[in-house]
Amino acid sequence: MPPLRTERLVLRQWQDDDLRPWAAMNADPEVREFFPTVLNQQEAADSIAYFRRELAERGWGWWAIEESATGLFVGMAGLDPVDEELPFKGVEAGWRLARWAWGKGYATEAARAVCEYGFTQLHLPEILAIAAAGNVRSHAVMRRLGMTHDPADDFDDPTAPAGPLRHSVRYRLRNPHG
Ligand SMILES: CC(C)(COP(=O)(O)OP(=O)(O)OC[C@H]1O[C@@H](n2cnc3c(N)ncnc32)[C@H](O)[C@@H]1OP(=O)(O)O)[C@@H](O)C(=O)NCCC(=O)NCCS
Repeated sequence: MPPLRTERLVLRQWQDDDLRPWAAMNADPEVREFFPTVLNQQEAADSIAYFRRELAERGWGWWAIEESATGLFVGMAGLDPVDEELPFKGVEAGWRLARWAWGKGYATEAARAVCEYGFTQLHLPEILAIAAAGNVRSHAVMRRLGMTHDPADDFDDPTAPAGPLRHSVRYRLRNPHG
C-alpha cells in the first residue's frame, strides 16, 4: 500500500513508534473535547492495531499522518463506512491531529488527499463528514473541503452519550469526477 503524499504531509501505514505520540494526543483533553473520554495507553495501542489491520487488508481506512519536513507524527485522517448504528449509510472522511499541528492547514490538506483517493480510486459517488454540533473547528475543515451542509441532515448520534455530544451534523461532498 503506497503512501499518499501531499505538499507537506505523508499519509502512510501505522508504525510501532507512532504509539507514543498517538497515545499522548489521545490523552489530551483538548484533542478529545468532542469525544466521550480520553484514551488510555491500551486503548491507543488497540486503535493502532485496528487501523493497521484495516489498512493492510482493505488498502484504505485511517492513515497515519507524518510531516514530510520533519518526519514528526501529526495525527490521522481517513475514510471509513459510517457506523452501522447511525440512521444513514455512506463513507465518511475524518481527521484528528495533535494539538501542536492545528492552525497550519494540515487537516484540510490531509483530508483533500483522502477524499481524492475515495473519488478516484474507490469511485465513491459521495463522501460524508460527521461531527458533534459543537465541533466548529471540524465543521470549518468540512467547508474548506467544499462540503455542503443541509440542516435537515443533522441527527442525534445513538453511539454518543446522552448530552451535548449527541447532536451531530452531516456534511456531504459529491464526486467531482462524475
Ligand atoms: C478538527 C481539527 C482536525 C481541525 O484542525 P485545524 O488545524 O483547525 O484545521 P485546518 O487544517 O483546516 O487548518 C486551518 C487553520 O490553519 C491556518 N493555516 C495556517 N497556515 C495555513 C496554510 N499554509 N494553509 C492552510 N491553512 C493554514 C488557517 O488559517 C486556519 O486557522 P484558524 O483555525 O485560525 O482559522 C483539529 O482541531 C483537531 O484535531 N481536533 C480534535 C479532534 C477532532 O475533533 N476531530 C474531528 C472529529 S469530527
